Amino acid sequence: MSPIQKCIKEKNTTIKPIWLMRQAGRYLPEFREIRSKNPDFIKLCLNESLSSEITIQPIKRFNFDAAIIFSDILMLPYGLGQDVKFEKNFGPKLNPVKIEEMMKVTEKEFVDKLNPIYKLINITSKNNILHNKDLFGFVGAPWTILVYMINQISPKKDLKKDFYNDKSLIDNLMNLILKFLKIHIKNQIESGASIIQIFDSWAGLVEEKNLEYFIYKPTLELVNYVKSLNVPVVCFPREIRDYKKFVDVVKPDVVNIDYSVDPKSILKDIKIPIQGGLDPKVLLTQKENIKKKVEEYLNIFKDHPYIFNLGHGILPDTNPEIVNFLVKTVRNFK
Ligand code: CP3
Repeated sequence: MSPIQKCIKEKNTTIKPIWLMRQAGRYLPEFREIRSKNPDFIKLCLNESLSSEITIQPIKRFNFDAAIIFSDILMLPYGLGQDVKFEKNFGPKLNPVKIEEMMKVTEKEFVDKLNPIYKLINITSKNNILHNKDLFGFVGAPWTILVYMINQISPKKDLKKDFYNDKSLIDNLMNLILKFLKIHIKNQIESGASIIQIFDSWAGLVEEKNLEYFIYKPTLELVNYVKSLNVPVVCFPREIRDYKKFVDVVKPDVVNIDYSVDPKSILKDIKIPIQGGLDPKVLLTQKENIKKKVEEYLNIFKDHPYIFNLGHGILPDTNPEIVNFLVKTVRNFK
């Protein structure tokens, strides 16, 4: 059994596996090299031989315990016919939703459009470099996907003023998103993903009174769906105010915490395996400080099943040499 599966299924506390969110990305020169020749990000995601190569780049360099497929949560709206573009230093831009057309998209059309992602998973999962390691498939949570589809750009702090105006659009979209997220998850697992992570990057934007509708209910449904396919599921409800309540209601196999969460108090509240937490900005500081901060997490979670990771994606300015240092620090900790 892989270190991550031991941690999750056997609640092993002696192994501290490590991987990093956004580990396949811009801080790596070998990624930037491929990226510079492939200006269209979506096309790059749909090029299974290049996206497979990018997926294993960080494994070659750092021998992490897991790879995460090089893809994007916005491939879902793309698969539903909503065009997505990525502008340099701006982030994603989506076309307006055409709900009538979208509701006519069939499962076959969607799967055909995203088929290179499933090929990428198939190729990568057979690569010997992943022996005894996991391959993460992933999706955006229904709420975060809804945010991008309606808001059309990253909300940063605020949603568009009229975001909640069209109730029937929201209802129709939530149902559609949930249906196709399940299809996307099923195809990832059938292609060889050994674990699924659900990214709810904008969970922190939901008001208390709306949590049931936008977060708990749909995420619980997805989590139960992944469990029914016999693969562990990690949830990352970034900046949600009450992680304990989230875990009690949604019951993922693992919860990823963000860097605003106090690790000591979460340890008291949460019984399931925990992943992540370290502020990615720590990796921009000196080695002594990095060691100190990393060991804080490892000490606090000494007797708890814990997968080392960050509290958000690794920053593009991170020095790969420092990532080597980070991995050594985690591996050498006793
Ligand atoms: O290594 C990995 O983690 C795997 C790949 C991965 C990407 N996106 C590749 C990517 C994963 C897991 C994601 C998830 C994702 N995408 C999320 C959830 C996690 C989070 O960051 O909150 C979100 C919200 C998105 C949407 C998205 N994609 C945004 C907002 C951006 C632009 C911001 C940015 O960092 O440039 C992207 C683009 C993107 N996705 C890049 C990568 C490597 C950068 C593309 C580039 O090279 O320009």
